[in-house]
Amino acid sequence: MEIRHLYESQQLTPRRLSALMTRADELKELSRKGPRNLPQTLDRYIMASLFYEPSTRTRFSHEAAMIRLGGEVIGTENAAQFSSAKKGESLADTVRVMGRQGGLLGYEDIVVVRHTEEGEIKKASEVSSIPIINAGDGPGQHPTQALLDVYTLQSEFGKIEGLNVAMVGDLKNGRTVKSLCYLLGKFNDINITFVSPDWLAMSPNIKAYLKRHEINYRETAEFEDVLQSHDAIYMTRIQREREQGISDEEFQRAEDMFAITKDNLPLVPSESRILHPLPHLHELQIPYEAEETDRRIAYFRQANNGLYARMALLEWSLMQGPFEK
Ligand code: NCD
Repeated sequence: MEIRHLYESQQLTPRRLSALMTRADELKELSRKGPRNLPQTLDRYIMASLFYEPSTRTRFSHEAAMIRLGGEVIGTENAAQFSSAKKGESLADTVRVMGRQGGLLGYEDIVVVRHTEEGEIKKASEVSSIPIINAGDGPGQHPTQALLDVYTLQSEFGKIEGLNVAMVGDLKNGRTVKSLCYLLGKFNDINITFVSPDWLAMSPNIKAYLKRHEINYRETAEFEDVLQSHDAIYMTRIQREREQGISDEEFQRAEDMFAITKDNLPLVPSESRILHPLPHLHELQIPYEAEETDRRIAYFRQANNGLYARMALLEWSLMQGPFEK
């Protein structure tokens, strides 16, 4: 039987994406009547969460998704410290040991991994007997985030095709923007604008991919223009931990250069949406009241969508076929 891993967002076809979003919507509706109204589709399945890098939303939302659908969670939030990686075991070996052995169940039925090295999760998926979900591999990819980001675009605009999307901040190290580009590349009539300091520009690989998929993209530093002219403004944090040899002042300059504040927020049209994978730092300086009431601010709804998108994904990976039509 096919094992349903998700290691990069290119794997998600528009058809699969649409099925996952429909299911996420169903689960979202059911959740309005409280936790006991959710189907217990993942009853007795076990998910291991193996995080070698820090995480808040990604780990909690996968774990909550699993538990809300009746499943169980085992794991460690600091796998680098508390798993055999500390003793030098490779991720591939770790997942081989924990998965199925022959016809027997193993320790868990699915594993969600966040790793420090780009490509390691894909490599581990090649030898794993159970599905592996990539929850971020270093500066590589973050496909479940792209899934929830596209789900958020669909929920906010009722469509994905035809949208103008600006991606702002650390486009070099940001795995969420890379995975989002790969996914948007599958839709028609998308325009992408990249806004970043030169030294944190989007990688040539991604630009080549967009070109091949006939997606219009451009790069600009005219942030005010961008704020006024895009459907979605996808902000990201400067990832200081992934850049060496940069002074504090230089980081600060980059963080201040492309920030949304109470002064430039009025430039954003009322029908536009501000997204962010979170956590946010100086790039978002929006007053609390605005965050609570202003429809343009979509990043809390986006984080909430992560729960439902991941419920749908876990069901798809674990249950071979309930909504495979
Ligand atoms: C992001 C990540 O870890 O890639 N956060 C997330 O998963 N929502 C973005 C970041 O760390 O800035």
